[in-house]
Amino acid sequence: MSAPVWLILGASSAIARAVARAAAADGADVLLAGRDTADLEASAADLRTRFGRRAAALDFDALDSTGHAAMLQRARDFAGEATLNLFLAFGTMPSQAEIDADPALIDGVIAANYTGAVNVLHRAAPMFEAQKAGALVVLTSVAGDRGRLKNYVYGSTKGALGAYLQGLRARLFRSGVPVVTVKPGPVDTAMSYGLNDMPLMAQPETVAAACLKAAKKGTEIVYVPFPWWPIMTIIKLIPERIFKKLNI
Ligand SMILES: NC(=O)c1ccc[n+]([C@@H]2O[C@H](COP(=O)([O-])OP(=O)(O)OC[C@H]3O[C@@H](n4cnc5c(N)ncnc54)[C@H](OP(=O)(O)O)[C@@H]3O)[C@@H](O)[C@H]2O)c1
Repeated sequence: MSAPVWLILGASSAIARAVARAAAADGADVLLAGRDTADLEASAADLRTRFGRRAAALDFDALDSTGHAAMLQRARDFAGEATLNLFLAFGTMPSQAEIDADPALIDGVIAANYTGAVNVLHRAAPMFEAQKAGALVVLTSVAGDRGRLKNYVYGSTKGALGAYLQGLRARLFRSGVPVVTVKPGPVDTAMSYGLNDMPLMAQPETVAAACLKAAKKGTEIVYVPFPWWPIMTIIKLIPERIFKKLNI
C-alpha cells in the first residue's frame, strides 16, 4: 500500500514545519504548499534526505483563490492512488493595537484566516468525498472561542472558521472523512513573538503531535495543550456583563 500523503498549506509556519517533520518521520510523504517556494523546496529536500520520504513544494497563496483548484489537482497527481490528507496552517495575526491604529489591516486578516481558508477547503471537499479516506486538520485558536478586548479581530476570524468547519465536518462525515478543528493556546512561533507572558505557551512540536494524533483518531475538536479545554469552558460561561469589564 502507498504511504499516505500530507498536503500542508502555509508550510513555512513553525507549526506546519513541525507537522511535516513528524508526518515524514511517521512514514508519510509530504507536499509543502506556500508562498515562498524556494524556501519550501529547500525544506522538502531536507525532508527527503532526513527521512527518505517523497517531499515537494507547491506554490500556494491563500488570497489567490483562482489558483486553489490547480494546486489541489497537483496534490492529487502527486498522491496518485495514495491517501491524501490536508493540514491547514496558514494565518496572520496583527496585534489588536496595530489593527486599531490602522483598520486597513482588517481586510488582510479576514482574507487570509477566513476567506482564504474557506476558499481552499471548499474546493478540496469534493476531492475528499471522492477519496472517502484521509483527514483534514485545521488550525483555529482558543481566541476564536470568545471575542476578547485584546484580540477580537483575529479571534473573530478563527471563530468564524470554526463555524465553517462544523458544517464541513457534517458534510465529510458522510464520506467517512474526519475534519479536525485544532485550537491551540499560545504557541512559541514567530506569530506569538513578544507575547512572553502568555500562559501555557506550547512548542510547535507539541501542537504537531496533537494534530497527527487527532487525525488518526478522527477527533472533532482538540485543545492544545489540554488545559485550554477546561479554561475555555469556564471563560465561555462568564456572563457578558462581567466579561466586558475584564482586561484580557
Ligand atoms: N502561534 C500561536 O500562538 C498560535 C496560537 C493559536 C493558533 N495559531 C494558528 O496556527 C497557525 C500557524 O501559525 P504559526 O504560529 O505557526 O505562525 P507563523 O510561523 O507566523 O506561520 C504563519 C504562516 O501563514 C502563512 N501565510 C500567511 N498568509 C498566507 C497566505 N496568504 N497564503 C499562504 N500562506 C500564508 C505564512 O506564510 P509566509 O511565510 O509566506 O508569510 C506562514 O507560513 C495560524 O493559523 C495561527 O493563527 C497560532
